[in-house]
Amino acid sequence: MLSSFAVPYIDASVPVLREHGVAITRHFYDAMFRAHPELKNLFNLGNQANGAQQQSLAAAVFAYAANHRNPGVLTPVVERIVHKHVSVGIRAEHYPIVGRHLLDAIQQVLGEAAAPPLLAAWDEAYWVLAKTLIEAEKRLYGQLGTEPGALRALVVSELRDESEDVRSFYLRDEAGGSPGAFLPGQYVSVAVTQDGLRQLRQYSLSDAPEQPWWRISVKREAGHDDVPAGRVSNWLHANLKVGDRLEVGPACGDFAPALQDATPIALLSAGVGITPMVAVLNALALRNPQRPTLFAHAARHGRQHALRDAVAAAREHMPALRRLSFYEAPTAEDRPAEDYTHVGRMDVAVVLDRIGVDAEFYLCGPIGFMQAQWQGLVASGVRATRIHREVFGPELLDHLL
Ligand code: HEM
Repeated sequence: MLSSFAVPYIDASVPVLREHGVAITRHFYDAMFRAHPELKNLFNLGNQANGAQQQSLAAAVFAYAANHRNPGVLTPVVERIVHKHVSVGIRAEHYPIVGRHLLDAIQQVLGEAAAPPLLAAWDEAYWVLAKTLIEAEKRLYGQLGTEPGALRALVVSELRDESEDVRSFYLRDEAGGSPGAFLPGQYVSVAVTQDGLRQLRQYSLSDAPEQPWWRISVKREAGHDDVPAGRVSNWLHANLKVGDRLEVGPACGDFAPALQDATPIALLSAGVGITPMVAVLNALALRNPQRPTLFAHAARHGRQHALRDAVAAAREHMPALRRLSFYEAPTAEDRPAEDYTHVGRMDVAVVLDRIGVDAEFYLCGPIGFMQAQWQGLVASGVRATRIHREVFGPELLDHLL
């Protein structure tokens, strides 16, 4: 809770800071990385390059301030940040550094308007949120039984090309077994060091926890328009061989469907967003095969349809599994009905015809896909509380501002 002293300053300055949000976080990162270059090892410099992380951190602090009377709105956002922070190894000692540079940046950008009481109010707001995060992160580190920033060297036991640009890497512990339990839908951070700079990236685990491995399925990214080339993903494709070791963090993430429910479940994905969905599907096939399930995927064409054997394999155990495949531009090799069921983008009407509005819906894919599905589902009468989503990369929080 913010003090009665801070509230009027926060209320008056939220609109101004929202307007300058991106400039503030840009100042913030520039100054922080100058003073603490070692922190570059924690941040995704690809997101820095395209501005996504700037917007996300700025948006999170201002969204918190904008919603201080109704902090419950932010609970899912806080949950997501906590998992991401634990995945990359954020420590309590990092918070004063971030807080100091954020306050300096607010002062820089607001200039004379940044009077001492206003800065004190923002300092207070930052620390209310920071304490919530620190506490929750401490709890999660404890539950996972891991120290902040601890990575394990896992052994690559197998490689498998899943499509023209997605390759699976099977990872085992030194004894040849599974690296540990996780919830289907969760991800891990992977560390790669190039030219002295360590970078972390998150990849969903793409197979069921029952398997004696962790599997990640990574898309090679050439880079185009505002999508930077995949520095870590491309390195993994080019360099990682069977027998190599890869540094991996704990399994994290709050996108984890309840598997034991009887409610119908719809897993809707596009592109490489199929990865967490296959983990969920494979776990359902083992744990709750009677559950009415729809697996719907959108790809450009068959050569980009990764992990496509998963549905056929799951169907052997899941009598009530239904499948939809939407290909935007099928090639001559793609067989109608067999490889794809529909031409074009994923169509909400077709999805709902197969599973009904009372299912639980899980979405993963590019932002445009998720927005279209979300809006389509809600407009067709699906309750928003039944729609869950996993965004790859920092989630933009503009809707809370
Ligand atoms: C109140 C304080 C903080 C807030 C509100 C905050 C907010 C956020 C948000 C919104 C994300 C993106 C989550 C997502 O959607 O994936 C994020 C990720 C991240 N945060 Fe924080 N954060 C805070 C403190 C810190 C601190 C103290 C550090 C450590 C230096 C830090 C380092 C990171 C890193 C490394 C990521 C991952 C994104 C990337 O790879 O670039 N954050 N944070």
